[in-house]
Amino acid sequence: MRINPSILAADFVNFEREVGRIATADLVHVDIMDNHFVPNLTFGLPMVERLQQVSPIPLDVHLMIDDPDRWAPGFAEAGAFSVTFHAEAVRDAVGLARKLREIGARAGIAVKPGTPIEPYLDLLPEFDQVLVMTVEPGFGGQSFLESTMPKLGLLRQAASRSGLDVWLQVDGGVTVDTIVIAAEAGADTFVAGSSVFRGEPAEQIAELRAAAEAHVH
Ligand code: DX5
Ligand code: ZN
Repeated sequence: MRINPSILAADFVNFEREVGRIATADLVHVDIMDNHFVPNLTFGLPMVERLQQVSPIPLDVHLMIDDPDRWAPGFAEAGAFSVTFHAEAVRDAVGLARKLREIGARAGIAVKPGTPIEPYLDLLPEFDQVLVMTVEPGFGGQSFLESTMPKLGLLRQAASRSGLDVWLQVDGGVTVDTIVIAAEAGADTFVAGSSVFRGEPAEQIAELRAAAEAHVH
């Protein structure tokens, strides 16, 4: 069970201090938005390069951008532990995943709530992680969409059928309550923005972890 706090909910002028407050988490989730793929704009590669130098935990980069085929490798070269691009935006998902792995990053593919997962099940060996969005990408603080949960079941089945250790990640509206639903559905990696940074991050991380672990079969 991995807890990845999203710094989208952190104080944007104090990222070094903010990542220091989540040192007990597994990875820091970094949301890259380009105001094209999603109607919001965050930060880009120079910020990630700098964050990489000061973060006590590795970076989990989530690219909500058009043309990831062009931009994603740069984030892997910057040292991101994992780089996830969107299925709806990529031209050559397998080619890009192979390139990311070659550079040394874990390769991830993400799907929006309305995007079916079936076309990707046969491609699972090409990915280290799959991100099932549990809100419409673009903004923090939205409500968890339980309607996305069947995708986790399909992914979990496909992964265990082929004996693959692919991480199944959820992102959006994850709280101490909804994390239980996602864990029961098959997720093992949880992104949480507002629920971590709203309170005392270390306590929130511990509570989320305990809730997820208590509900594993
Ligand atoms: C949304 C982002 C999420 C966001 C989650 O587009 O991908 O990572 O930070 O925020 P919360 O946990 O507040 O829903
Ligand atoms: Zn995200």
